[in-house]
Amino acid sequence: MFMRTSILRTLVALLWLVPAATLMAQNADFHVVPLPKQVKATQAGHFELDDKTLVYCPQGNKELKRLAGFLTDFVEESTGIKLTVTNAPVQRKCIRLSVSLKDKNPEAYRIRANSEIILLEGASEAGLFYALQTLRKALPTGTSQCVLIPGTEVYDAPRFAYRGAHLDVSRHFVGPDSMRRFIDMLALHNINRLHWHLTDDQGWRVEIKKYPRLTQVGSRRSETVIGHNSGRYDGVPYGGFYTQKEIRQLVEYAAARYITVIPEIDLPGHMQAALAAYPELGCTGGPYEVWRQWGVSDHVLCVGKDRTFDFIDQVLSEIIRLFPSQYIHVGGDECPKTQWKQCALCQQRIRDNHLEADGKHSAEERLQSYTIRHVAQFLKQHGRRMIGWDEILEGGLPPEATVMSWRGEAGGIEAARQGHDVVMTPNTYLYFDYYQSQDTANEPEAIGGYVPLEKVYGYEPLPAGLSAEEQKHIVGVQANCWTEYMKTYRQVEYMELPRMAALCEVQWCNPEQKNFDDFVKGRLQRLAALYRLKGYNYRAGF
Ligand code: ACM
Ligand code: ZN
Repeated sequence: MFMRTSILRTLVALLWLVPAATLMAQNADFHVVPLPKQVKATQAGHFELDDKTLVYCPQGNKELKRLAGFLTDFVEESTGIKLTVTNAPVQRKCIRLSVSLKDKNPEAYRIRANSEIILLEGASEAGLFYALQTLRKALPTGTSQCVLIPGTEVYDAPRFAYRGAHLDVSRHFVGPDSMRRFIDMLALHNINRLHWHLTDDQGWRVEIKKYPRLTQVGSRRSETVIGHNSGRYDGVPYGGFYTQKEIRQLVEYAAARYITVIPEIDLPGHMQAALAAYPELGCTGGPYEVWRQWGVSDHVLCVGKDRTFDFIDQVLSEIIRLFPSQYIHVGGDECPKTQWKQCALCQQRIRDNHLEADGKHSAEERLQSYTIRHVAQFLKQHGRRMIGWDEILEGGLPPEATVMSWRGEAGGIEAARQGHDVVMTPNTYLYFDYYQSQDTANEPEAIGGYVPLEKVYGYEPLPAGLSAEEQKHIVGVQANCWTEYMKTYRQVEYMELPRMAALCEVQWCNPEQKNFDDFVKGRLQRLAALYRLKGYNYRAGF
């Protein structure tokens, strides 16, 4: 009894010697998602991050000031600690932001922390932004008076330049506020491309001034099928679209987070909503309805008509003005040829342009290729590059076209061999509309498939069968999210998280850095604390 009391007294006495702030302190840990290339502990003591910490930002640099604002927001959100931004040069107890890192990778960054200073250096503003994200993810969550940042040197740079996430807003609309939430989620995962699937059979979601009926008519369906094309309908009208002003605001919001928005206008198939608005653009002339069910519609653009090419050019002209992205996505997937086979005008186009069947492709497949080549040419004339799903390979493709390999990896392999740039998005690994668990009875209804977290994590985007030269054409990796079975944005989050964390290590880390056990038991657990703080709806139990 006497012994225990005396130990307790000694402990209490010792506690008086420790400053209160340090007592409350928690430690930062730079082993975050995605795992940096190097995290080196130094013997440089600890930096005490507390409300006396200043963020030094030289006067006159607006971009750095904006980034300093992100930093103070992130720190306060995670820890409750309020930092102060100053433009007066300070030597001690400050965080310094700079873009002076010399590195051949423009997205590289370095973090150096010692007891006096935390230096965040980017090779560009984007690199600096990833330094901020890493510091943010290194912090413990929950209110704290002080966070101890151990003496550390972090160096990091991404493996792939194109790190994408796709979102289908046609099947179910995602409003501007939820889009901003989605963009923030991408930024948290160091993703730098948002592939926005804006049009499909079930809804046209982008205002086009020259064709107002696209949204007046094409953005609304009278009702939606229940479940997997059950033949029963919910009887509830459904719709939504973005005005051009909203589009510009969202593109700007994403750009401020170093995310390029790539719009997709899916053509010549997946166009039934547009045909409902302008039936004269179809082979049969309609009438058509905005589709109430899921699947691939036979009602496609009639490419025998010149007015269809005018439509494509006019729509793309407005899209180009809205989206500064170099890439413009034109779909090209799943275009049934049944109506082209029956259509006199489409058959005339085939004859006029000598698109006869050859050993490899039917005349109608060559007509699709003719259409895609027109689009590629149009975009090139306007200083942009075409990207499309792997079907665009069928019937030949201009060299500057980039291919998204979705039907497994085969399309990507073939495209790289032909010298096209490729973004890998195989449904076998990276379709986030597929189930995350085999226990589907206890999951919200999904389209099918099975892509668990470990499968995503284990994906290697450079196919072993390609030569080193061919592998250089694999410019990036993307996961796709089709929303037929995601009625709410909350369900989108559930399907994205935590798989987006695994995706981002595939996009960012070198293969030798990856270790699923370390990822799932350590880094991801700490990232999930941030998910909870943000109120993200993620699939727990990993
Ligand atoms: C696709 O999944 N149809 C590209
Ligand atoms: Zn036709």
